[in-house]
Amino acid sequence: MNIVLLGAPGAGKGTQAARLVAEQHYAHISTGDMLRAAVDAGTPLGLKAKSYMDAGELVPDDVIIGLVKERLREPDTDAGFILDGFPRTTAQAVALDAELAEMNRNLNAVVAIDVDPEVIVERLSKRRLCKACGYIGSVDDGPDCPKCGTPLYQRDDDTSEAVRTRLGAYQKSTAPLIDYYRGSGLLREVDGELTTDQVFSAIQGIIG
Ligand code: AP5
Repeated sequence: MNIVLLGAPGAGKGTQAARLVAEQHYAHISTGDMLRAAVDAGTPLGLKAKSYMDAGELVPDDVIIGLVKERLREPDTDAGFILDGFPRTTAQAVALDAELAEMNRNLNAVVAIDVDPEVIVERLSKRRLCKACGYIGSVDDGPDCPKCGTPLYQRDDDTSEAVRTRLGAYQKSTAPLIDYYRGSGLLREVDGELTTDQVFSAIQGIIG
């Protein structure tokens, strides 16, 4: 299965992708994670992306599209992939369609996770993450990762100002993709305000 997880910042895309990958062994393609790895490594891509990311703005399409095209050519995607955080603009969606057609592949579903913006602001102000094992949690977990004991950290773009900008970018550039994928018959919507287990069950029900 080749799946796109669509949703606003903090909707739970990363949380659900991690569970799908653990259970179904799909390749997880998170453009946010790829960009953060490039920032941490200080690569030219990371240097270019950092200021956009810290401000909560989208990184330019040409940068992201090239990155994803390259990633889709890696062999682990043959067993299926989950795109998390891509596409985020109509230009990215069109480029993805063209790339998959060239590879004789297609998307099986686009799962839109729907969460109210007020819930998102609350979730992102509380989110804490583990750099060592990838755990996604919250401030309620305490200072250390409950899975591996590494100190949890807060993302630079989870400040209230950057979150506002990210939500604005989502409404302006990404929300139109809901209609784009509805038009192609691929869209499936889930209520992202249910518990993480319930959201996961709903997604499993969709993708089989
Ligand atoms: P990216 O890393 O993709 O961030 P995002 O889309 O803003 O999404 P998040 O990772 O913040 O949230 P999520 O939906 O994964 O939620 P999570 O599971 O963590 O992108 C970061 C930046 O990179 C962008 O702003 C942009 O600059 C750049 N970028 C990336 N891709 C790009 C692209 N394609 N084009 C251009 N620029 C790009 O959950 C959030 C919190 O909620 C957690 O604390 C979690 O524990 C909790 N939670 C999750 N589910 C539930 C639930 N059901 N109930 C209660 N709590 C829950």
